[in-house]
Amino acid sequence: MAAAAWIGATCNRRSAPPLGAAPPVDPVGPVGPAPSSAVALEVALRAEFSEAVLDSAGGRAAQIWRFGGSLLSGKSEALLSSKSYLGPTLRVRRGERVRVHFENALDEPSIVHWHGLQVSQEDDGHPRFAVGRGGRYNYDFTVANRPGTYWYHPHPDGRTGPQVYAGMAGLFLVVDPDDQARGLPTDEFDLSLVIQDRRLGSDGELVYDPNPMVGFLGDRIFVNGQQRPDINVRAGSYRVRILNGSNSRIYKLAFSDNRPLILIGSDGGLLGSPVRKPYLVLAPGERVELWADFGRSTAGAEVWLESRAFSVGGGGMAMGGMMGMGSMGAGSRLPNGAAFRVCRFQVRGGGRTLRVPAQFEPLDWRPDEEVVNRSERRRIDVSMAMMRWVLNGRTFEMTDVAPNERVKLGTTEDWEVQNLGGMMAMPHPIHLHAGQFQILERVVSPTWRSVAATLQDGLVDEGWKDTFLLLPGERVRLRMRFERHPGLFLYHCHNLEHEDAGMMRNFLIEA
Ligand code: C2O
Ligand code: CU
Ligand code: CU
Repeated sequence: MAAAAWIGATCNRRSAPPLGAAPPVDPVGPVGPAPSSAVALEVALRAEFSEAVLDSAGGRAAQIWRFGGSLLSGKSEALLSSKSYLGPTLRVRRGERVRVHFENALDEPSIVHWHGLQVSQEDDGHPRFAVGRGGRYNYDFTVANRPGTYWYHPHPDGRTGPQVYAGMAGLFLVVDPDDQARGLPTDEFDLSLVIQDRRLGSDGELVYDPNPMVGFLGDRIFVNGQQRPDINVRAGSYRVRILNGSNSRIYKLAFSDNRPLILIGSDGGLLGSPVRKPYLVLAPGERVELWADFGRSTAGAEVWLESRAFSVGGGGMAMGGMMGMGSMGAGSRLPNGAAFRVCRFQVRGGGRTLRVPAQFEPLDWRPDEEVVNRSERRRIDVSMAMMRWVLNGRTFEMTDVAPNERVKLGTTEDWEVQNLGGMMAMPHPIHLHAGQFQILERVVSPTWRSVAATLQDGLVDEGWKDTFLLLPGERVRLRMRFERHPGLFLYHCHNLEHEDAGMMRNFLIEA
């Protein structure tokens, strides 16, 4: 990426990391495709204090933190402001160049991460680039990802959970002008739902009281920043994009009329072809795209999106109680695995029912021959040490890279992530930065089969993934190509309280 892109910016994105010594990585330039010269979208994004009414019963506004956004240049539909605490939805096409001028008006360090996007290390929001109050950071990248549903959120060291919880998150949609020709519902028939859980005090303010082991679980479900809203739809076909933007909660999504869910996309956009599932499991950070026909219900009808009951195993249930923080729910009246309603679709007026396309573009999987570590898979063991979740026995250090955390640019590897942790084991949503991968295999140990059985038919392993749910007692093999950018990137648990407590590590892509 040309250095010239940053000249004239009001701030220096290369300013020294505020914490500790410089990272042990060469300040090499990214080797990705050169940006198209014209900037398609330029926005100002400000982390700021604000207010929003959160209680569905109305009442006074609560204090929130949010991403305030404004369009500096580009098409007006490229930045859609939200009507809630959420940040604006950014909409760009693949190959377009995006500039973001981030300003931190909070009184603690923050930085923005573009979850799922393949960008250079300087653009990836690593905590070493966090800026304090009044600090600025400029992003300049060309969107290389497949069209799909991505998102952005803060990524400062130890404070990601509270910042996301306070309201800082937004969607980043990579849109495809060919969708209509492909037979997909578009425009008003292309819906996005961001599902989160929150807890409000009697004063209407947000309460953040995470359990150190289980994480944060709220007792009210919010969709697009609104508590369990009614969503008006027409009697027709919809594309429904769903992001689990919750800190720790896992959803087992189903419709109240028990129709099968038609999955058409996952973290990295459309699948090769649609897949039917009895329900869909969505862990923090994961996205799905569904095909939903509301035309089957007559106008005036309604259908609920629900989350059904499941088991999280020993650690996820027992620890809240064991640690004296209320049994099963880590202080929440709605434990992980409880059943509840998410939102209601109300059919209002006619629409158009389309036929679900039988096929989308084939996914270009990496072949076995390309894998450089075929004889010895890279292993990541998830376990607990001294009451902390650890990755290969380690917790996060700002720039630390262990010998088994180095990979080579331009290679493809198979990684094996294993959920140990014995009786205390619980599900962990595992996320890698720097690219997307394919899930090759899941094997669950016999002792955990009955727990896994409550979730496994709805796990989303299809398509290109950047986040997957690792069940207790499970071993998952994934394949990833370190394709575009050298540098220091993160892999971590996307249970944000686990991440903040150090369940995160760097890996270094060496040029
Ligand atoms: Cu969505 Cu490293 O995170
Ligand atoms: Cu990410
Ligand atoms: Cu975890």
